[in-house]
Amino acid sequence: MTRSPDADRLAEVARCVPKAELHLHIEGSLEPELAFELAGRNGVELGFADVEALRAAYSFTDLQSFLDIYYQGASVLQTEKDFYDLMAAYLRRAHGDGVVRAELFFDPQTHTERGIGYDTFMPGFLAAMADAEAATGISTDLILCFLRHLSGDDALATFEEATEYHDKIIGVGLDSGEVGNPPERFVEAFNKAAEVGLHRVAHAGEEGPPAYIWGALDELGVERIDHGVRCEEDDALIDRLVAEQMPLTVCPLSNLALRVVDDLADHNIGRLADRGVLVTVNADDPAYFGGYIAENYHQTIEALGLAPATAIQWARNSIEATFATDDQKRTWFDSIDSYVENLDATWGFTA
Ligand code: ADE
Ligand code: ZN
Repeated sequence: MTRSPDADRLAEVARCVPKAELHLHIEGSLEPELAFELAGRNGVELGFADVEALRAAYSFTDLQSFLDIYYQGASVLQTEKDFYDLMAAYLRRAHGDGVVRAELFFDPQTHTERGIGYDTFMPGFLAAMADAEAATGISTDLILCFLRHLSGDDALATFEEATEYHDKIIGVGLDSGEVGNPPERFVEAFNKAAEVGLHRVAHAGEEGPPAYIWGALDELGVERIDHGVRCEEDDALIDRLVAEQMPLTVCPLSNLALRVVDDLADHNIGRLADRGVLVTVNADDPAYFGGYIAENYHQTIEALGLAPATAIQWARNSIEATFATDDQKRTWFDSIDSYVENLDATWGFTA
């Protein structure tokens, strides 16, 4: 099939515009090839004949059907080097997708429950982040996520167990099965994180109702909402998100894979942006959902028939929504501006 110049242009802008990734579960970047390599290295039985069979199992009906496979996949991660390799592989791809800043989720309880402690996964993550930054300039930080299907006490204990690493993370988050696990149970853990100066984010309004978004804002004091797409059901909530310019870290290909939407063309990100919500586009668990961040930009713009310049706006929004310093943000805004000026010169492309 021949591609039109417009399709090529969109693909190029989606990939090359400097951007931030704000919603990426590092365990969700475990590609089947690496899963098999690690399984072999560690003598773990994955329960699938080969890479193709594993990939073929990535067909989900909802969030829980995905989480069952995702937690199973994480069982191959055992040594510091495994965590290094996982992070290094993701950061290589992210750099190729124009990511200049990545604020990355990790799920400590997925590992500590298996007897693998902070002293194994943190040095692996941190060394890969330092090496990637030295090699490509990509700026990275970690956000520790609590699993919401576990108790508030578990979350608190998980946070306290991480004390030695509190200065190596920038924030805490809340993920895993949403429905039936409202944010209020995690107030104590989030308050402790705030006391030591950490940022707070939470998944809310992915499958759960708008009430969970209100809860994340009011009870947990979050500064970004992860997903948040169900805010559209509540006009007062939209007004609040717009008034506070509260970023949503939207993940369109994830929403499609987990049947939050039936068709990408029905995704509400365009409508939310039109109402003034600060939307960003992210990958969530790209190894499972069929696309990294540039694919999320590209496929969503194409499916919704949005202008290619939408990619530039999403990139600007993503930088605005980072927890980086104002100086860092200025540098990245400048690099977006230079990128756009260059596009104007070569393609007569106006953002
Ligand atoms: N953990 C990994 N991906 C997730 C998602 N999309 N929602 C909730 N928890 C997750
Ligand atoms: Zn997520």
